[in-house]
Amino acid sequence: MKKVLLIGNGAREHVIGETLKRSGAQLFCYGKAKNPGILELAEDYHTGSLENSDEIREYALKVKPDFAFIGPDDPIGGGLADVLLEVGIHSVAPLKTVARLESSKGFTRELVHKYKIQGNPNYKVFLNEEGMKEFFAELGEHFVVKADGLMGGKGVKVSGDHLAGHKEGLAYARECLHAAGRVVIEEKLVGQEFSLMSFVDGKHTVEMPVVQDHKRAFEGDKGPNTGGMGSYSDANHLLPFLKPSDLDEARTITHRVAQALLKETGCEFKGIMYGGFIATASGVRLIEYNARFGDPEAMNVLPLLNSNFAEVCEAIIHGDLDRLKVEFAQKATVCKYLVPDGYPDKAVKGQKIEIGKVPPGVKMYYSSVDQTDEGLILSSSRAVAFVGIADSIVEAEQLAESTCGSVKGPVFHRKDIGTAELIAKRVAMMHELRRLRPLK
Ligand code: AMP
Ligand code: GLY
Repeated sequence: MKKVLLIGNGAREHVIGETLKRSGAQLFCYGKAKNPGILELAEDYHTGSLENSDEIREYALKVKPDFAFIGPDDPIGGGLADVLLEVGIHSVAPLKTVARLESSKGFTRELVHKYKIQGNPNYKVFLNEEGMKEFFAELGEHFVVKADGLMGGKGVKVSGDHLAGHKEGLAYARECLHAAGRVVIEEKLVGQEFSLMSFVDGKHTVEMPVVQDHKRAFEGDKGPNTGGMGSYSDANHLLPFLKPSDLDEARTITHRVAQALLKETGCEFKGIMYGGFIATASGVRLIEYNARFGDPEAMNVLPLLNSNFAEVCEAIIHGDLDRLKVEFAQKATVCKYLVPDGYPDKAVKGQKIEIGKVPPGVKMYYSSVDQTDEGLILSSSRAVAFVGIADSIVEAEQLAESTCGSVKGPVFHRKDIGTAELIAKRVAMMHELRRLRPLK
């Protein structure tokens, strides 16, 4: 039996832990709070700061796991895999040098450019203000400004949404220079976004079913950006607005980026490469890479994994993913997050929610909630996710929706995620962009 140290305590880590356990592993968890779901799965659970690598190392030395699985971006970007490797523990998570794929947007843009990989928009990385005004003028009214560092998902501002014109663009770019020392300014892309996550062992890449996330807080893609309100995937492992060739393009980009990373740094990326892509009128473009599973996207794909997850993890570490057959069930999934009223800006905290019976075909994953004597208590972030799993997106949506509706307490969710109506809008948008007949 494999011993695994899971680091992190969100819903993403709950599904990672569940899938490891299903593959026969014995689970130990280090998290900053007690996740009620992981608590049930784990032999032992240590709480402590995710920034305290000394404490994590001490705990790891006590557990002596076969390997560690690091869920969240901050410890990965901060080099926790390096710290664990120093004491002989391998991780399913990249070393700091290659975790730059997520922690530095400028590094990734330049890597893609240098190795002549398709997918970059028109972009420039700035270390100071020289030439900035001219580049804004070149891009015109459609631009994006990105701080070049991990900013907890808040470093990106898009013209039209957050920035009214060049003056605001320039002011925000200056702010980024102050905060991060580097700023990326790029062309704003128009199309439909999708997440393609791959298992990567340094040389080989094996993709998972493609997923679409919903970042905006409110129905109709309105309101502030969030960590992700929910997501869906289709039974054929494609999305209704994508062509198979789009998926091929995204897959090729990830494969080539993994190879380029090795060539550039001499270090193999071992873990999850999560590409945020966008299908545009002129093909697939890369928005960014994350060096970890997506949250919520992990909840769409891991419950469908038919292969042994612990074996997949070991193949990632050993570099022989090509020898494994990695298979996912041909099912559709819809994931919806319940979040506290007021989320994300003024989320209520400390209030109780009641969850009824979870029906067959639905999985429940805990995120920021505490199990107390009084019951399940909200923290101020995403609380609980429900994932409907069925033969079609419509059926999966109904399963997730009816379960969300049965929860009592001051929470809300997006009713439109995975509905036929919202999906039809996305298909129509792509159709218009491509001037093609819509795909079913
Ligand atoms: P991030 O915080 O890096 O995940 O980016 C947040 C969001 O910004 C993405 O999900 C996109 O919606 C948007 N975004 C980033 N880069 C671009 C781009 N070049 N064009 C259009 N939207 C973008
Ligand atoms: N689904 C967004 C993220 O994990 O970054």
